[in-house]
Amino acid sequence: MAIEKNSLVAEDFSLVTQHMVMSEHLNPNHHIFGGQLLAWLDTDVYLHCSNQVRYRSMVTVSMNNVFFKAPGYLGDIIQIFARIKEVRRSSVTAEGKAVAYDPEKQTSREIIACEVTYVAVGANGRPVRLFEKIEK
Ligand SMILES: CC(C)(COP(=O)(O)OP(=O)(O)OC[C@H]1O[C@@H](n2cnc3c(N)ncnc32)[C@H](O)[C@@H]1OP(=O)(O)O)[C@@H](O)C(=O)NCCC(=O)NCCS
Repeated sequence: MAIEKNSLVAEDFSLVTQHMVMSEHLNPNHHIFGGQLLAWLDTDVYLHCSNQVRYRSMVTVSMNNVFFKAPGYLGDIIQIFARIKEVRRSSVTAEGKAVAYDPEKQTSREIIACEVTYVAVGANGRPVRLFEKIEK
């Protein structure tokens, strides 16, 4: 069965991946550890951007406007959504969201939103121009 788009997430966001919250993801308050959510977003929004701009080697240069909206709990299914906001010379900025989805009730809660910027780098770790191949 196809996974339905989440009504909390605008149509132009793409579902990138899903994670199950396990005990090792919790903080001492028994909520998902914020650093875990940031790690999932960093990786998953990267995958979305890398696929869209067709460039594999990028580094995260900033994570901005991080907003923890609601806690996540043990057993939650966390869906990660992303959409590209801007592509510049060597950098791409995207919005990422994590929502906790309940497949039985078909409901969801938004857990975190943020913006991430990645910079395309060459073998020396220095920025390279995106779409160079296309513009030649
Ligand atoms: C990312 C990095 C290569 C950029 O180097 P730099 O010397 O600042 O490069 P430049 O000044 O040429 O900027 C390159 C691009 O980064 C963007 N950038 C730099 N700092 C930024 C910031 N704080 N926020 C958003 N974009 C930023 C610039 O706007 C520029 O974008 P553009 O080419 O699309 O116009 C360098 O800062 C770096 O290696 N950082 C460490 C990355 C890292 O280890 N991340 C964690 C693990 S993935």
